[in-house]
Amino acid sequence: MYAALDNIRAILPTPVQNRVDAVIEAAEIFTEMKNPRVLRSMAPSAVRGLLLKAGKNGAPTAMAAAHDAHFNWDYPHDHAEMHQLYERAKLGQWNGSQLAWQTAVDPFDPDRALAPLDMIDLAAAKKVGIQLSGDEQPKMIYSITSWMLSQFLHGEQGALLAACQVTESVPFFDGKLYGSTQVVDEGRHVEVFHRYLSEKLGKMYPVNDNLFVIIDALMTDARWDMKFLGMQIMVEGLALGAFGFLYQHTQEPLLKDMLRYVIQDEARHVHYGVLALRQHITTELSPKEKAEREDWAYEVALLMRNRFMAYEVYEEWYEGSSVTREQWRQLVLSSPGMRRFRDIMFTRLVPNLREIGLLSPRIRPHYEQAGMGQYFHGAAAPELSGEQMLADLDRGPAASTGASRGRRRA
Ligand SMILES: [Fe+2]
Ligand SMILES: [Fe+2]
Repeated sequence: MYAALDNIRAILPTPVQNRVDAVIEAAEIFTEMKNPRVLRSMAPSAVRGLLLKAGKNGAPTAMAAAHDAHFNWDYPHDHAEMHQLYERAKLGQWNGSQLAWQTAVDPFDPDRALAPLDMIDLAAAKKVGIQLSGDEQPKMIYSITSWMLSQFLHGEQGALLAACQVTESVPFFDGKLYGSTQVVDEGRHVEVFHRYLSEKLGKMYPVNDNLFVIIDALMTDARWDMKFLGMQIMVEGLALGAFGFLYQHTQEPLLKDMLRYVIQDEARHVHYGVLALRQHITTELSPKEKAEREDWAYEVALLMRNRFMAYEVYEEWYEGSSVTREQWRQLVLSSPGMRRFRDIMFTRLVPNLREIGLLSPRIRPHYEQAGMGQYFHGAAAPELSGEQMLADLDRGPAASTGASRGRRRA
C-alpha cells in the first residue's frame, strides 16, 4: 500500500506532498501499535498532538488530570533509598540566577561553537538533494541547536507539571518528600533554559508534536506508574542522553556550565523513577499489565527514535520551497552529528528499561529490529551518579556510550 502511496505522492506539488506526508506519518503511528490497550491509551493524545497540533495553536493547553492524590496521615519512612535520594537532593540545590549570565554568547563564533558542524552535514545535504552553502551551514546549526534547546525547555515544563502530579499520586511517603525537591529542580530548569533561549540565542521553536503526544499521554493517564514510566524513565532518560550530547560537544561555556548542573539533577530524577517502578513492575503487576507497560515504553521509544526530526526547523527554512519533508527527514537521518545525537539519547534510556523489568525476551527482538539492541547492557541509573556520568562525558564520545556498567554509585 505504501509503495502505491509513494508513487502518487511523487507526482503531487511539494506543499501537497508535505501535507500527505504528515498525515501518513500520523496514521502510521496508529497502524503500527500492536497492543490495543496501548492504542486506546495513546490515541486521544496522538489525535490532539499530531492531527489537531494542540501544542502549536498559540493558546495555553489544558490537560485534564484523572489521578488520585494519595495521602498518608502516618508519615511513614517507607523507602530508605528514596530517603537517601531526598537528602542528596537537598544538598544538591543550586541557584539558576547565579550562573555566569554576563557571558557574551555569539552563536556564530567558530571558536565557541554551540554544537558540532556535522549536525547538518554539507555532503549529507547534497546527497539528498538539498543545496546548502557554506554560510548557511552555521545558520542551520544555530537553528537546530535552538530547536533542541526549545524542546529541552518544553520537556522541562512537562517535567515540572508531571513532578507535581507524581508527588501527589506516588504511594511512598519518602517519595513525596523527594518529589518536592524535583518540583523545585524542574522549575529551575525551566528558568535557565528559557533564559538562555531568550537572552542568549534570541530564538525559540514550538513544542514538537511527538513530544506533545508523550507529555499529553502521561499527564492525562490516571495510573501513577504510567506517569513515572512516561516522565521519570522515558522523557527524563532521553533528556539525560540529549543533555549529555550537547554538554559533550558545545564549546560555549555558559551552556556547558548550565548543562553540567542540570545533568546532575536529572540523574537523580531518573534514579527516583527506577526506584519507584522496579519493585512495582516486577512484583505487583499482572503479566497483562506488565506487557502493556512494556509495549507502551517501546512505542514511546520509537516515537522519539523515528519521528523526532526537527520538522519545526524544516517548516522555518523550507516550507513553500521545492525541498520536501522527506528530503529533510533523510538529511536529519544521515547527518553524522544528528545520528550521534539520536544514539546517545538511547544510551541512558534502554538500560533503565532493563532495570525496571521492561526488557523481557518478548520485547527485545523489537528493540533489536529498531537498531536499539546495542544499548541493552549499559549502566542503569542506580549504577551511575550524575558526577560519574559527567566524568564519562568529559572523557569523550567513546566513554559515554553506556559502556561503563558495573561501577556502583558511592
Ligand atoms: Fe529537568
Ligand atoms: Fe527532571
